[in-house]
Amino acid sequence: MRRRWMAAVAVSVAGLLTLSACGGGDKQEGGGGQAAKKVEVFSWWTGPGEADGLKAMREIFAKQNPNFEFFDAAVAGGSGDQARALLSSKLQANQPPDTFQGHAGAELQGYIKSGKLESLNFLYDELKLKEVFPQQLIDQISVQGQVYSVPVNIHRSNVLWFNPSVLKDAGIDGAPKTIEEFITDLDKVKKAGKIPLSIGSQWTLVHLLESVLLGSLGTDAYNALWTANADWSNANVTKALENFKTILSYAGSPQDDWQPAAKQVADGEAAFNIMGDWAYGYFHNPPEGGLGKESHKDFDWAASPGTDGTFMWLSDSFTLPKGAPNRDGAIAWLKVAASKEGQDAFNPLKGSIPARKDADQSLYKDYLSWDLEQWANDKLAGSIQHGVVANDQWRQAITDAVGLFQQDNDVAKFQQALVAAAKNSGQ
Ligand code: GAL
Repeated sequence: MRRRWMAAVAVSVAGLLTLSACGGGDKQEGGGGQAAKKVEVFSWWTGPGEADGLKAMREIFAKQNPNFEFFDAAVAGGSGDQARALLSSKLQANQPPDTFQGHAGAELQGYIKSGKLESLNFLYDELKLKEVFPQQLIDQISVQGQVYSVPVNIHRSNVLWFNPSVLKDAGIDGAPKTIEEFITDLDKVKKAGKIPLSIGSQWTLVHLLESVLLGSLGTDAYNALWTANADWSNANVTKALENFKTILSYAGSPQDDWQPAAKQVADGEAAFNIMGDWAYGYFHNPPEGGLGKESHKDFDWAASPGTDGTFMWLSDSFTLPKGAPNRDGAIAWLKVAASKEGQDAFNPLKGSIPARKDADQSLYKDYLSWDLEQWANDKLAGSIQHGVVANDQWRQAITDAVGLFQQDNDVAKFQQALVAAAKNSGQ
């Protein structure tokens, strides 16, 4: 098994927006007249599917910590673009939440380098966490021997979700394996009168782009894009961007976020959607949080075209910001997030696999057992949109370039913007 973890170096996160800060650290009357101190947990898991995992971990936290009250400071918006803008302004104003969600890799390295986080070596020593997380993952959340977050999961980004009946009606026999097959199939669906590819808000296009780059370039060339002196101007990248243009020409109208786009597939309005495996939680969880759909019947999955054998990964982790108003409460949360019990409650509902190596594998069924197997055997590539390979500044420049491309469809201009984004990333 060969692991290709990306060396992630990042600059500080730029604070762009000034938004109102959420409260945290207040004293509140708990049951029995005791004062339960609030612990402000900042994430972006508010939507259907996403919130179920958080709720499960929150229940464990409440049971184990009657002296603390979980305060959900989640900010809506898939993939956290809105949440990170608010977080950035809070951090700049030295008003951090007690703990916040950050992606392992370049994104977290940004918070570390700008001096916003406390080292968690004391916690890793106390709970012997170095033994339970893969060393390569620890490398992504460390600087100079200090570890700065607790990873709660591993997500896969490069998943092609599809509706088996829509494919069948369009005369398509199974999921496309290559980008070329994908384009042929998109065209067949179009002719059959359904939406070939559903998309959501703008970040979902960056998510789509990372799968198309990986599927077009291959793993080694994709990974090379994030190394020093990477060549974004070559003809293979041009071809990958042309593929992106063709694929996008089959997209339906942009939905508000990833859930309504995924739902178009589950409802049989659209054939395909490329989205991370949080979509599984949404498809599969019971109707209070998810859609309660049946796998292989209402929805199905495969590696996104051209990426079989490679796991494009990302990992959600929780931090201890310097100056957390309720530091003890934050540490209590981190302990739950780090625990086997916490991870095994969270991940089956979140649609992710545990970061811990010793989790109870029997809890990960259906899509998630496939996921675990791929994780154990695949090569690795890091996600762009979800913080692994590009720092915030670089990701933002890529997002802007995708936004312009959506309007003008000019591949040459798009490539120039990506070349400039790489050059100016400061990474
Ligand atoms: C990612 C995050 C996932 C999931 C997804 C959609 O950035 O890592 O946990 O929440 O966004 O919102």
